[in-house]
Amino acid sequence: MEKVAVAVLASGRGTNLQALLDAAARPDFPARIARVVTNRPGVGALERAERAGVPTAVVPSKGRAREDFERDLLDAVGPVDWVCLAGFMRVLTSTFLDRFPGRVLNIHPALLPSFPGTHGPGQALAHGVTQAGATVHFVDAGVDTGPIICQGSVPVLDDDTEDALAARILGLEHRLYPMALRQAVEGRIRVEGRRARVDLRPGEARWLVG
Ligand code: GRF
Repeated sequence: MEKVAVAVLASGRGTNLQALLDAAARPDFPARIARVVTNRPGVGALERAERAGVPTAVVPSKGRAREDFERDLLDAVGPVDWVCLAGFMRVLTSTFLDRFPGRVLNIHPALLPSFPGTHGPGQALAHGVTQAGATVHFVDAGVDTGPIICQGSVPVLDDDTEDALAARILGLEHRLYPMALRQAVEGRIRVEGRRARVDLRPGEARWLVG
């Protein structure tokens, strides 16, 4: 089986990257992680990639014009088919996105469209919701606004802290992202307006409960 080449962009510790690396290491997974690019040096995501034998690059974003940064990012990403954002703390514009139309995915720690942007778990706590969760979605030029592929929910407990809730959500993220990537690279997701339709296989769901 010829695997589809995927680049992962990250900014931090890289546990979602790890979930994708672990999935991609299985012979029957249709994608391989061809490259990991971060905008910060010394982050955990780089270590994880190196341990898995995946080529890495660092493209610093700090103090740079967005367009220059994104052009360098495109060079670093190289000729891959899909791009996964995994804790990548920069908003991408058409400079980058136009190279991968409909082929950039993101994972967000909230039940979108609630609580886009940063601190999803903290916002969920502050709003007093009873369920929080995670979303895998296509990336468009907005902040966490693209068509939703799958979501998962966890309860919000009375004595939750932001960290405890974020950790509960993270466990779910690691199940959601590899599933969505498989569906995406197998061409089983169709976007109609702002809705994604997924051709599900046995054992898959668009909604997980953690
Ligand atoms: C995750 O919560 C992800 O949803 C968000 O940033 C965090 C990244 O965590 N976009 P990690 O670096 O994958 O561990």
